[in-house]
Amino acid sequence: MSREQRKHDHIQQAIQQEQTRSPFEDIQFIHQTLATSSFHRCQLETTFLHKSISLPLLINAMTGGGGKQTARINQQLAEVAQHFSIPMAVGSQMAAIKDQEQIHTYQIIRDTAPDIVCLANLGAEATPSDALRAIDMIEADGLQIHFNHIQELAMPEGDRDFSMRLRNLEAIVAKSPVPVIAKEVGFGMTKEAVKRLYEAGVHAVDVSGTGGTNFSQIENARRQLSLGFFNSWGVPTPIALLEARSLALPLPFIASGGITSSVDIAKALSLGASLVGMSGFFIKTLQNEGIDAVIASVTRMQEELRYMMTALNVHTVEELKNVPLIIKGETHHWLNERGID
Ligand code: FNR
Repeated sequence: MSREQRKHDHIQQAIQQEQTRSPFEDIQFIHQTLATSSFHRCQLETTFLHKSISLPLLINAMTGGGGKQTARINQQLAEVAQHFSIPMAVGSQMAAIKDQEQIHTYQIIRDTAPDIVCLANLGAEATPSDALRAIDMIEADGLQIHFNHIQELAMPEGDRDFSMRLRNLEAIVAKSPVPVIAKEVGFGMTKEAVKRLYEAGVHAVDVSGTGGTNFSQIENARRQLSLGFFNSWGVPTPIALLEARSLALPLPFIASGGITSSVDIAKALSLGASLVGMSGFFIKTLQNEGIDAVIASVTRMQEELRYMMTALNVHTVEELKNVPLIIKGETHHWLNERGID
């Protein structure tokens, strides 16, 4: 199967995946009876990689390298990013490194959104010279390196040897002229993984947990021999955030995986994330309802976040990171088992 066909299948499958619940259901805000806040003082503006952004939301890595269809998707998502001054990551650029004709499907993002924080993206199989080409290709402000071994294992044509990946990351970090962000692709991370990534010198970590786009289900739907046990594999996003936060390292982290509403965004920030990434939500809304619907939903989320901040007695994103919470159910149980407070 060609890479182009695989990209097309991934998008179609991701759009069809139904998410029936939020991975953040075990997280509950504590009502602040004695309000001291003012709606008009609530600010969502923050900074990311030294540029100011209007809200802590990232259009997370998805596509590129799939010809006209992915170029059109990237152009429209870049319009959204430019409209709101929010960062955007491109999909894996290995396709363009292997085939020059695909470069325009990524560069269209920079052409459409010259002012945004734009993140390059490659898998941890990449070399430092691949990384430099990916950064140059889109004048990237940062570089995401994804760790996706469950997806690879679930893919018939996927990699089977992951023994060099951490070393590749370290070599890339040493040579990269821009900050490097390590990310998962929807199977989450533990504190041990985050600590190791910190030691490798990354600038930030995107814990990308379970609860949203599920690449095991996507790959299993495309193959004869199903590895169904990977469908429920991984670390849910809120747990991955709590694992990361428990290390108390000077390392910003990004929340992604199953985030589809302003409530999810607020909860992810309150669990310590500096930025919240969404992929599945953007591709579904864009493909099913169009770009105006995407802009309307982000506008609504922005407004709703300010309502929640007012209710929680905070005025800034930084203050939102410290609001009191109750952690229930399976999330609570996991933290107990792992000795995380
Ligand atoms: C992805 N994701 C992804 N991640 C990455 O680092 N490089 C990539 O090329 C891709 N490609 C890709 C394609 C499509 C169609 C989707 C939906 C997703 C993973 C993505 O960035 C994110 O980590 C997960 O999708 C979890 O977030 P959501 O989708 O639950 O918000």
